[in-house]
Amino acid sequence: MKLKTSYLGLEIKSPIIVSSSTLTGSVESIKHCAEAGAGAVILKSIFEEQILSEIRREERYTDNEIYDLYPEAQEYLNTFMRGTEIEIYEKLVRESKKNVDIPIIASVNCSTDGEWTSIARELQDAGADAIELNIAISAFDRDLDPRKIEEEYVKILKDVEKNINIPVSVKLGDHFTNISRMAFSLTKAGAKGLVLFNRFYNPDINIEKMKAVPGNSISAPEENHNTLRWISLLSSQGLPCELSASRGVYTGEDVVKQILAGAKTVQVCSTLYRNGIDYIKQMNADVEAWMDRHNFSNVESFRGIVNKKEDINVVERLQYLRRNYDIH
Ligand SMILES: Cc1cc2nc3c(=O)[nH]c(=O)nc-3n(C[C@H](O)[C@H](O)[C@H](O)COP(=O)(O)O)c2cc1C
Repeated sequence: MKLKTSYLGLEIKSPIIVSSSTLTGSVESIKHCAEAGAGAVILKSIFEEQILSEIRREERYTDNEIYDLYPEAQEYLNTFMRGTEIEIYEKLVRESKKNVDIPIIASVNCSTDGEWTSIARELQDAGADAIELNIAISAFDRDLDPRKIEEEYVKILKDVEKNINIPVSVKLGDHFTNISRMAFSLTKAGAKGLVLFNRFYNPDINIEKMKAVPGNSISAPEENHNTLRWISLLSSQGLPCELSASRGVYTGEDVVKQILAGAKTVQVCSTLYRNGIDYIKQMNADVEAWMDRHNFSNVESFRGIVNKKEDINVVERLQYLRRNYDIH
């Protein structure tokens, strides 16, 4: 009961939420997360590319001449394949809702503001309690104006919100020139929550084969510092939306730190791949033990209290050398 709190207006038993991943891609695994004490789960994302690649795959196996003869066949195929992928995802939403009593947050990956935004409506109708938008626009084109990218994030959010009445949060990467500005723009556009930060696929190089290869998909605990910085900064700037800390949250101690910095909830993924889903029990117990030691009776009573001026001075510091050091 001590860990009870809320996120996006939903009551949750613990501030620990399982992030979007294969851990939340099947009903069995979602049941396991709920039994281990997760406050909520973010379902594995439905990806724009996933739907498009299904369409392309089907096209490869079909005699292309058929599309010249019957152009409407292409249209039919697109609609059919899109429908199939979404139906599978809707079933996951419905079945999860039937099997667990924790909030089910659906995750939609968008990199354009195409029809994908209407998918959110279908997920709401299937019973999702909220939508997390995993927006990832790659900025590899040197002619792309950063302002245009930021405007695109806001446009996608607004398009999705137009279609639904459940809360929407946005999961962001940390590669913006000015994260605060992006966060305030999204909040102004109606985001009820921000998830900081997404962790994208990283490249590596195999030096024997001299080839680029995928990097480790599991985060390291040290990655939580940047999240901590931005949760602190945005919370101390009075960002009027709920913050969910993600990336490098490994232990109960990490959960406490993010809440002290101002996070409403945390999201965990890599720690569960390493330690197993049952590790949520240990994390919840460790947060409770810390609360007992410091006489806090609920999560809200210690949220954001490490945001005094002297704390922010530390959080804002980028260089090892102090800016105003004295020379004697
Ligand atoms: C195997 C795997 C699959 C993932 N799939 C998704 C996904 O479908 N959607 C998403 O938004 N994030 C996905 N993520 C990213 C996680 O949700 C999370 O943001 C990231 O791993 C950082 O958190 P962590 O340090 O707790 O692992 C995935 C991560 C892993 C390791």
